[in-house]
Amino acid sequence: MDIKAATGEIADIKADAIVVSHFEGAKKPEGAAADIDKKLDGVISNLIKQKDVKGKLNEITLLHSLGKLPTGKIVVLGLGKKQELNVNKVRGVTAEACRYLRARSVSRVASVIIGDGINKISAESAVQAMSEGVVLGLYTFRRYMTKKENGLGEIKEFTAVGRVKKSIEQAIAKGKIIAEAANYARDMVNEPGNYMTPTQMASAARQLAKKYGLKIQVFDKDKMKELGMGGLLGVSQGSRQPPKFIILSYKGRQSSGIDLGLVGKGITFDSGGISIKPSESMADMKGDMAGAAAMLATISAIAQLKPAINVTAFVPATENLPSGTALKPGDIIKAMNGKTIEVLNTDAEGRLILADALSYAVKSGAKAIVDAATLTGACQIALGKITSGTFTNNQALLDKVITAANEAGEPAWQMPMFDEYKEFIKSDVADIKNIGNRYGGAITAAKFLEEFVDKTPWLHIDFTGDTDKDKGYLVKGATGVPVRTLVNFILAQVNK
Ligand code: BES
Ligand code: MG
Ligand code: ZN
Repeated sequence: MDIKAATGEIADIKADAIVVSHFEGAKKPEGAAADIDKKLDGVISNLIKQKDVKGKLNEITLLHSLGKLPTGKIVVLGLGKKQELNVNKVRGVTAEACRYLRARSVSRVASVIIGDGINKISAESAVQAMSEGVVLGLYTFRRYMTKKENGLGEIKEFTAVGRVKKSIEQAIAKGKIIAEAANYARDMVNEPGNYMTPTQMASAARQLAKKYGLKIQVFDKDKMKELGMGGLLGVSQGSRQPPKFIILSYKGRQSSGIDLGLVGKGITFDSGGISIKPSESMADMKGDMAGAAAMLATISAIAQLKPAINVTAFVPATENLPSGTALKPGDIIKAMNGKTIEVLNTDAEGRLILADALSYAVKSGAKAIVDAATLTGACQIALGKITSGTFTNNQALLDKVITAANEAGEPAWQMPMFDEYKEFIKSDVADIKNIGNRYGGAITAAKFLEEFVDKTPWLHIDFTGDTDKDKGYLVKGATGVPVRTLVNFILAQVNK
């Protein structure tokens, strides 16, 4: 996909389709739309008068130029109310327009820069959002379909038409890098469990290391035993797939320390283990490594954007399966930091592998840690699938991540961490147990993780890695959340 900027008037562009925009409530076409309107003998004005074009957000009206313009197809794209436009909407409408045009066999699209100068949106942030919308919105996962003809065309070229400057070109490139990283995470999450095994995930991380010149280490079982990673080993012992602990490091400045550790839950399939899940929607649990995928993808984006910061991803990867060798309810295991855990439900496995990964990140000297995990169904019950729950021992860190999430359009919400919840994970026979009672399950899970981070500033993201339908820049399946949040957050640490 080629995304570029061109100077000029959209009416003069030769493409397969051009996109102009219209705000809800505007009485007549404005800007480039007015120009096109004139050349098309007032058709847009007329449609507005007839109320066939209302300008509602994501409204798409297709016109044909019938030889009056170099381009045949014209889309009038509704942007909603002018005072409500923001970059997240720019990203979303761009994606909707692209999917619409792809379904109509369009290959080259040219668009006005949507939102430039409105509500303080700079041309740069507008084109970055558009670039992200194009890449995210056109995402497909078809690698296991043997028939290549699919009724879907392919948009090969997208041109933002305005005034080209270096900063505009850079913003387009940045948006593309970030969105492609999110798509990389989506690919990993969409991969079925029989392909995306822990071994496969380690080899994908090795490929990233090679491509971007990053440092990588992959620990096998023996090394885990040596380190005392009883959580990761315990969860993996029911599976034939060997577990992996992946450490992928980006070094952006001359200091040996790790400024930020990224810990991602890498359960490549979660059956629940002996506490087996009902079969209905168990297949979704191929995506229980979305946290891991997000962390590897974030490092890949950062490696291309090159901020002056040292970031390391720590990924514990294993399957969670029942078998004669699997962990059993009632078993007691010891995590790497020496704490003992009574495992009362083998389906609360994410926190067991994260216990070791967080302990390891702390031991590596990470100055701050962010973890992302598809950790609890309870968080989805609390917040729905749209919003990620965030938990912290450091309010300043959380505030920064929430700011980054808002910028990315990846909704995130702070959840409580009151110490009163700790009593629910007290065990009668070990230091701690891996489940609480029926209530506040996302919070007791976070309180469990907190036991493994010492005093390190830490933020935990409990999220859903997938969505049920195409909407804006999301497409059905994996979302790529929270890659763009994390990339924004990391870049903001450096651009202070
Ligand atoms: N991976 C699941 C959580 C999950 C479920 C994420 C559905 C996304 C969609 C996790 O390992 C799990 O099974 N959690 C249990 C914990 C419980 C046993 C305390 C849950 O939420 O039911
Ligand atoms: Mg589970
Ligand atoms: Zn799980």
